[in-house]
Amino acid sequence: MADRYLHLTGTAPGRFLARRLGLPQPAPLRRWSPETPRLEGTLLHLTAGSGAGADAGARAQAEAGARADVEAGAGADAGAGAHGGTEAHAGAGTAVGAGSGLAEVLAGVGLPVVGRADRPGAVVLDATGVTTAAGLGDVHAALHPVVRSLAPGGRVVVLGAAPSPDDHHQAAAQQALEGFVRSLGKEIGRGSTVQLVRVPGGGATAQGAASTLRFLLSPRSAYVSGQVIELTDATPEPVTDPAAPLAGRTALVTGAARGIGAAVASVLARDGARVIALDVPGVREELERTAARLGATPLPLDITAPDAADRIAAAAPDGLGVLVHNAGITRDRRLANMPAERWTSVIDVNLDSVLRTTDELLKGGAVTRGGRIVATASIAGIAGNTGQTNYAASKAGIIGLVRSLGPRAAADHGVTVNAVAPGFIETKMTAAVPFFIREAGRRMNSLSQGGLPVDVAEAVAWFAQPDSTAVNGQVLRVCGQSLLGA
Ligand code: NAI
Repeated sequence: MADRYLHLTGTAPGRFLARRLGLPQPAPLRRWSPETPRLEGTLLHLTAGSGAGADAGARAQAEAGARADVEAGAGADAGAGAHGGTEAHAGAGTAVGAGSGLAEVLAGVGLPVVGRADRPGAVVLDATGVTTAAGLGDVHAALHPVVRSLAPGGRVVVLGAAPSPDDHHQAAAQQALEGFVRSLGKEIGRGSTVQLVRVPGGGATAQGAASTLRFLLSPRSAYVSGQVIELTDATPEPVTDPAAPLAGRTALVTGAARGIGAAVASVLARDGARVIALDVPGVREELERTAARLGATPLPLDITAPDAADRIAAAAPDGLGVLVHNAGITRDRRLANMPAERWTSVIDVNLDSVLRTTDELLKGGAVTRGGRIVATASIAGIAGNTGQTNYAASKAGIIGLVRSLGPRAAADHGVTVNAVAPGFIETKMTAAVPFFIREAGRRMNSLSQGGLPVDVAEAVAWFAQPDSTAVNGQVLRVCGQSLLGA
């Protein structure tokens, strides 16, 4: 359903009114298209947090330097790897410093990487070396001067390290980055987004972060903000064809006849996968239409059927490279009014069938090594929702599933397991929600608008990339940084 308010605030009088009345001012999001595959502008690469950054004098110096860079409106091509305001503090102590390939990874994002810029399209701040409270001053010094000059629809990615169980100063400083990123996400505005990516230390290379940075620093992540992503030290598989990274892989998407599932199938097909689109026999015609449009193979099948895993395996004789559990239902009622049937059917479709088919397909080897399993949670599973004890339980269960199985599936089968947790997405389901609740759902996030099915699909495609091996056991909220459960 069209978001008329977003349309209205896209006009000059609408913008004026929204400003005067203190109403939300959503910025139209720029999403991926063949014509706009990249962000506009440059990628500003900054570093914070060497040993020197931890003392106040150095901090003041860094801040002055960073400010000078911006005030000078310095040329946008100081060269890859040359750090800007905090250049004096770059170096030792960072887990993914340029020496371990970060500069090379950033160069692969497709934007000119610079050390200074007067209007960057994206900023990456390597804060992995921030180990003290005083060192956090470097983060302020690096971003304070540039945050206002970031181009609309820009991206800020802070690279952090895992908080250490053995060093509470480092843990405090690194945890501080989470509060920082979530707050900046709420205030940055103009369709820009802010994320924290925790990269492993101990000699891991930046290569493991390549697919994540490509996603976050692109129009594909338009509706993802305020997120914390923790990468493992797994070695990424190579991408042989960047234009079709999933070429040669078979992807099965459940609930693919319409809505988010159809968008997932479409994006995976765009990325080169052979897609099998599964949905219940009751929507066979819609499924066949969607499959024909995408060049996919339809598989009419109820995912709760006892032989579902066998039939999926039979439909993909060469094995599955990507398995996307998207099918889901709601049967809302307050617990006091909820008959057992409503409870059971939601748990069965949304959670139990996911557990069952995942176990059987993994055990039987139908999901091949290097495979990717992506399940669908919801922010309802994080925040809870009135009338949705069954649905929220099922979606929280998905979160438990991916966090527990991810590491073991990687060790035993070479497969990653992750989940998307969509917020308010514009689908038939949300179009049916009463007007005021729908409006609240749309505006109660940092981007002041609902997401589109393609936003969820792009996140699934990021998990599915061959070089996303280090992305495992993660739950990515695709919710515009919704206030719910935040
Ligand atoms: P939708 O209702 O438009 O599509 C769901 C699809 O799953 C339908 O085509 C349906 O036939 C299929 N399906 C249902 N039961 C099935 C079964 N037993 N076997 C095979 N297929 C089955 O829903 P939408 O909005 O596209 O949601 C997709 C997923 O995203 C669901 O898991 C939903 O819970 C989740 N989600 C959606 C949000 C939204 O705002 N639309 C928000 C958060 C999560």
